[in-house]
Amino acid sequence: MKKLIKNGIVATATDIYEADILIDGGIVSAIGTGLNAEGAEVIDASGCYVFPGGIDPHTHLDMPFGGTVTKDDFESGTIAAAFGGTTTVIDFCLTSKGVPLRSAIETWHAKSEGKAVIDYGFHLMISEINDETLSQLPAIIADEGITSFKVFMAYKNVFQADDGTLYRTLKVAKEHGALVMVHAENGDVIDILIAEALAAGNTDPIYHALTRPSELEGEATGRAITLTELADSQLYVVHVTCAEAAEKIAEARKRGLNVYGETCPQYLTLDVTALEKPDFEGAKYVWSPPLREQWHQEKLWNALRSGQLQTLGSDQCSFDFKGQKDLGISDFSKIPNGGPTIEDRFSILYSEGVAKGRISINQFVDIVSTSSAKLFGLFPKKGTIAVGSDADLVIFDPTAQRVMSAETHHMKVDYNAFEGMSVTGEPVSVLSRGEFVIHDKQFVGKPGAGQYLRRSRFNQAALAPANKLRGLSNVGSR
Ligand code: URP
Ligand code: ZN
Ligand code: ZN
Ligand code: ZN
Repeated sequence: MKKLIKNGIVATATDIYEADILIDGGIVSAIGTGLNAEGAEVIDASGCYVFPGGIDPHTHLDMPFGGTVTKDDFESGTIAAAFGGTTTVIDFCLTSKGVPLRSAIETWHAKSEGKAVIDYGFHLMISEINDETLSQLPAIIADEGITSFKVFMAYKNVFQADDGTLYRTLKVAKEHGALVMVHAENGDVIDILIAEALAAGNTDPIYHALTRPSELEGEATGRAITLTELADSQLYVVHVTCAEAAEKIAEARKRGLNVYGETCPQYLTLDVTALEKPDFEGAKYVWSPPLREQWHQEKLWNALRSGQLQTLGSDQCSFDFKGQKDLGISDFSKIPNGGPTIEDRFSILYSEGVAKGRISINQFVDIVSTSSAKLFGLFPKKGTIAVGSDADLVIFDPTAQRVMSAETHHMKVDYNAFEGMSVTGEPVSVLSRGEFVIHDKQFVGKPGAGQYLRRSRFNQAALAPANKLRGLSNVGSR
């Protein structure tokens, strides 16, 4: 059945205007004023924005890590995402040395099929590059539509790959049209700092942060950029937390390099003092890279505002406080890293960003949705509101007030990292390809309704088409 969204304010990364949106066959079929509603279900969006659905470029659903498995799987995780205004997630398919890449991808399909309530794609982790993995990648890009690879520069003896692997991944990505993502921290040195701390009897959660200083994030970010320049390739730095890393990215972009960066809601709103909470509560705030001193937050906001960082990922990686985080009660290095953020990413960016005057509405849409669609080969099917685009839409009440809490969230974990934080604005209804997933704040979706997304190859021109026409580089584009 057709749907007609009436009386809303349509906001994209470039425009904001009053219009009706007609949806037919899961796609936006018309945008205009006074559209004919004959035969359509009418949805009144008075007083609300209509945004393109959020795209979360960084999730870890149903992921084994630190001797346990993340609490939210593709069902609970995507339900929570939808409540929060997100209609697409791109999850990290883990691989391990010696396991064929195809079988890792099949494992991820098995985790997600029949479960996801919104559309989803995969990034592929690269743990080693040898002749065999190298020969598989072109076909994986072509048939699976996996056009982004992730290399970990940290988590020594677990996920960490060496610089040679990163360099070869950058080369193959350039040749075949993929984007290389890095977790940028110097894992070798961190490993030594952790051993030194534990040998000195320092086992509390705060030592997680103290053994991962921001200098080592800046160093690894710079090293990844150098390798990207040598390989003449393209790089996306995940979860940027600090001034050192943001500056490296900005400087690379100024030189015209194809370097992009993401930050996460926790780094914009929480700081390192959270790890000092008593009774082991600091473990709830253990992410890698760690939360930083508060002054870094303003640097990250500035980088988002000026377009030097392009996206906001949740880095959803949820573990219960009781029964999972407490694996590290007597050794901070055994605390599973990560937190529950998939549901609150969109609202935090709106409230802390738009409502507090740090970014514009258009920048909000760009950061929460459009830039990820462009970087990861989903635009213009996803990431905007245009005739022919998927009707992935969020009807958002910008005046609603609510308080983040584990009591009311839909993630399957026993705490909320933003507990007690007041936010302005709330998704009221969320549609995925024209079907309600959230209707008047109630979940009405269906596990398995989410479709796997085969993504297009990396296309630099998608990121700055106007500059390309003018023969300019993408410097400072937004
Ligand atoms: O602490 C984090 N970020 N956990 C998830 C894994 C990763 O490094 O992204
Ligand atoms: Zn309704
Ligand atoms: Zn990471
Ligand atoms: Zn992550």
